[in-house]
Amino acid sequence: MATINLFVGSVFGGAVRLADDVMAAIKCSNHRAVLIETPSLDDIKSASHLLIITSTTGKGDIPGSLSPLYAELESQFPTLAGKPYGIIALGDRNYGDTFCAAGRSFDELFRDLQAKPIGHRLEIDASEDFEPWPVTEPWLKRWLEKLPE
Ligand SMILES: Cc1cc2nc3c(=O)[nH]c(=O)nc-3n(C[C@H](O)[C@H](O)[C@H](O)COP(=O)(O)O)c2cc1C
Repeated sequence: MATINLFVGSVFGGAVRLADDVMAAIKCSNHRAVLIETPSLDDIKSASHLLIITSTTGKGDIPGSLSPLYAELESQFPTLAGKPYGIIALGDRNYGDTFCAAGRSFDELFRDLQAKPIGHRLEIDASEDFEPWPVTEPWLKRWLEKLPE
């Protein structure tokens, strides 16, 4: 059984609602989920498994609930060697080049910090998928199956 720490970046609540569904689904699996409300660098460093659920705001920006954490990770550059992680990125393809940029930024930074991606990043396009859960559910199932203990 893995304990998965969830970090959520949201502006209008869509990612928070999705995180609730994800939490409920993880609780029905043989894993444990913990939602980190006010994330700190120590939460990232001490977590055994990481799951980021984030929308994108502005022009490819990270929502305020996660941007201080991102800045701290970037400036302190702690090693996350081998730490398994997943990214669920919410965005809108109408924003062109910055589509799901916040999720992409976390993915790139985690790779630089040598964390271990489990599967590929999920990108959800709000212009196509009005409800994020139906596309997240099969992704999450596969992600949980691949997760090392
Ligand atoms: C002001 C604003 C800026 C946005 N900028 C981007 C963007 O640069 N790239 C992107 O993919 N989506 C962008 N979006 C779309 C949101 O990321 C998307 O609607 C998401 O589902 C919102 O989730 P939330 O309710 O958790 O904030 C933007 C939305 C708003 C309202």
